[in-house]
Amino acid sequence: MAAAPIIVAIDGPAAAGKGTIARRLAAHFNLAYLDTGSLYRQVGFLVLEAGGDPSEGEDAVAAARAIFGRSFEDQRLRTQAVADAAARVAAIPEVRAALIEAQRRFGTTPPLLPDGKPPKGVVVDGRDIGTVIFPEAGIKLFITASPEERARRRHQELMDRGISANFGEVLEEVRARDELDATRPVSPLKQASDAHLLDTTDLSIEAAFEAARDIVAATV
Ligand code: DC
Repeated sequence: MAAAPIIVAIDGPAAAGKGTIARRLAAHFNLAYLDTGSLYRQVGFLVLEAGGDPSEGEDAVAAARAIFGRSFEDQRLRTQAVADAAARVAAIPEVRAALIEAQRRFGTTPPLLPDGKPPKGVVVDGRDIGTVIFPEAGIKLFITASPEERARRRHQELMDRGISANFGEVLEEVRARDELDATRPVSPLKQASDAHLLDTTDLSIEAAFEAARDIVAATV
């Protein structure tokens, strides 16, 4: 019998570095990568595009059923307005339920790698991956950093993209999204009891990646 695919489940708050680390782990270990935040962003984007209300169940559930087949690389998913809409649709239980199956299917039957080879497993990042989507994952990481450091990184990223932003406002946005993600009743952001904690506050991205790589290498 073929070995079960390796599942690396990564959770953590916004702007903690998990997306960058997850992509690099996937490339390093030949695993397929799924950014589940982009699913919720796509739902939020579709609701806004249709002129709907992201906190309203019917608008959001209809959008959640319409996201598949769309591009998740679309840069329009990366705006602050869409991030805010994503956090709102993500609090609706029916929206989360509509996205569970596709996430689990990615774990059991991952797509081929860009070079056409079958992956040995997957890296999936989000907020509830180790707690709800793949509670049985072989490797779980909870990647975090202080709100100030996450706001500093987000602010720098905006400036690098030529977007002027006020640090205090970015920090407020980080705190507001933490509050929405961690206090919603359904699948809140939470460290799984068997997850490795990786605090990247004082780590460069390189050092953070190496720490994550060493944790994964000890298991695969
Ligand atoms: O990781 P991100 O910033 O792209 O996520 C956008 C929003 O989607 C985030 O505020 C919370 C939500 N989300 C979620 O509830 N569960 C996930 N597994 C991934 C994201």
